Amino acid sequence: MNSRLVIFQPSGQRGRVEEGKNLLEVSRELGVDIESVCGGTKTCGKCKVRVQRGFFERHGIHSQMEHLSPVTEEERELLTDDELSSGYRLACAAQVQGDVLLYVPEETRGGKQVVRKEVTLRKIDLNPAVKTHCVKLEKPTLADPLGDYERLLKTLAAQHGLEGLTAGRTVLARIPSALREKGWEVTVAVWMGKEILRILPGSSMRCYGLAVDIGTTTVAGYLCDLATGEVVAVHSLMNPQVTYGEDVMSRVTYIMTHEGGLEELHREIIGAMNQIVSQACKRAEVSSDEILELVVVGNTVMHHIFLNISPVGVGVSPFVPAVQQPVDVKASELGIAVNESANVHLLPIEAGFVGADNVGVLIAEAPYEKDEMQLIIDIGTNGEILVGNRDKLLSASCATGPALEGAHIKFGMRAAPGAIERVSIKPDTLDVEYRIIAGEGDQLARGICGSGIIDAIAEMFRVGIVEKSGRLNKSVVNPRLVQDGKSREFILAPKQETAIGKDITIAAGDVRAVQLAKGAIYAGSKILMNRLRIEKVDRVVLAGAFGTYIDRTGAMLMGMFPDCPLENVVAVGNAAGDGARMALLDINKRREADEQARRVEYVELTLEKDFEREFVEAMHFPHMTDRFPSLEGLLPRST
Ligand code: FES
Repeated sequence: MNSRLVIFQPSGQRGRVEEGKNLLEVSRELGVDIESVCGGTKTCGKCKVRVQRGFFERHGIHSQMEHLSPVTEEERELLTDDELSSGYRLACAAQVQGDVLLYVPEETRGGKQVVRKEVTLRKIDLNPAVKTHCVKLEKPTLADPLGDYERLLKTLAAQHGLEGLTAGRTVLARIPSALREKGWEVTVAVWMGKEILRILPGSSMRCYGLAVDIGTTTVAGYLCDLATGEVVAVHSLMNPQVTYGEDVMSRVTYIMTHEGGLEELHREIIGAMNQIVSQACKRAEVSSDEILELVVVGNTVMHHIFLNISPVGVGVSPFVPAVQQPVDVKASELGIAVNESANVHLLPIEAGFVGADNVGVLIAEAPYEKDEMQLIIDIGTNGEILVGNRDKLLSASCATGPALEGAHIKFGMRAAPGAIERVSIKPDTLDVEYRIIAGEGDQLARGICGSGIIDAIAEMFRVGIVEKSGRLNKSVVNPRLVQDGKSREFILAPKQETAIGKDITIAAGDVRAVQLAKGAIYAGSKILMNRLRIEKVDRVVLAGAFGTYIDRTGAMLMGMFPDCPLENVVAVGNAAGDGARMALLDINKRREADEQARRVEYVELTLEKDFEREFVEAMHFPHMTDRFPSLEGLLPRST
């Protein structure tokens, strides 16, 4: 196979790659971060790169359009004529056939996400799976020549009532020296009263655990001291699988269509876990050998890929997970660089897409302990809904699509520096004020992230630019409302204020994408509420990193969820991660998770006969017929 030289600018990353690979594959190989919202299925148009044509002496490369495979149908659809004639190609469609020099435009560069997964204060009882015990052994004599391991077991049984313990080879190998180093006094770490994980000479041992929430977009790790429950370090990063597709379905498709795809994605997530381990350990001055327990949550697809189990069954009807019950597995078996004996516990899966992350939310919020009716919405790339109280709980999963996370939106981007995250519009002049996520140095707007999109559309509705039906109001005339081809758009940031040299706009199609997402959440909530025969809930809980940053008034104004007094709408941050932390620090929470996950009744929305109607009604802003007394005075008069 011939190899060809490929250079990416402005980063200058270069390498020789096999002819026939597409530029997205090449970018991954060379470590260039390119936006690929659809995971390379040639549908999102976000992976644009420009071919630099000519001989570039400095780089010793002769680059031409013909050095890539011919332009495809999909590229003709997703790129404008201007772009095509200026040398733009979609990275996932263009295959290398010769040497090429490429320019990756600002909007195509995968921004480093600002990962905001702070710790929420929650009351957690301390009863971890791993506990330490100190013992003083009788020295062996000729009259008592019992083996070291048996002597240790006998003493642990006598002094701590620990019967029938086991130990792996590594621990067995360490026992003799540990016993003799400090006069036959040792401390052992025991998992679930069953297995000795570690032994150290002397009377103390530090013991840490790591709770991890594997989100479709973000992976967050919380390093905790198992003796005190204190979170000693938090480290989050972007899920590296994002370059294979931003939502779970595109990753399942990748696995289905690429040989070795599962292993590839599995390696990516294990790599990310190991990065979290090393960074968190560095920050807290903890050795990775001191991490003796992990609890992991994630949606069903993330959960399966983490375990290197094919998630393909979840991707097709009847959406069956490969395993649903809690799983315990050795970290070493998965290649996680913590103590060799450490265990990884995965919370159970409720059903189909309602995964262990939702079980994390469930045990963190514990609606099953309360009388008040709660609606809990975990807004991520997939929306998960829980409704109920101590008597009954229903759950559902709705395909929100990644629009609320900034994808499939013309100028959508992740919550990275340069993203517009807050918007307000003056009703009389339609002047816009916006706030962007700050990075290093001066920052100009590069795009809009999820919370900015919600704000922008809620504001556009409030001031009358967007009608109740979602159409852009034709009777509003203002220089900010422009026509781009067939699409009407509202300019949020004019090009002189942006880093991409173009106006950043909200297009009619963006409003539509958000309508679909919010309509799905609202309709899903209504179906569950109807099943419980309730017309309103007492409390709405918005979970998920995104849920923390959206403006709850804006979210209700656009009708993301049914009416509820605004003061009872709360954002609880990363509840899935909190649930993982609780299960790490208290084994009773694991039992609770198992029991409650089985008690929650899962409703498959696609099978509900009313879903279609509810969905159509919920597409309106804020809703076609439902009333919102809590928004009195905030809604436009026409509604
Ligand atoms: Fe290329 Fe989506 S079109 S990654």
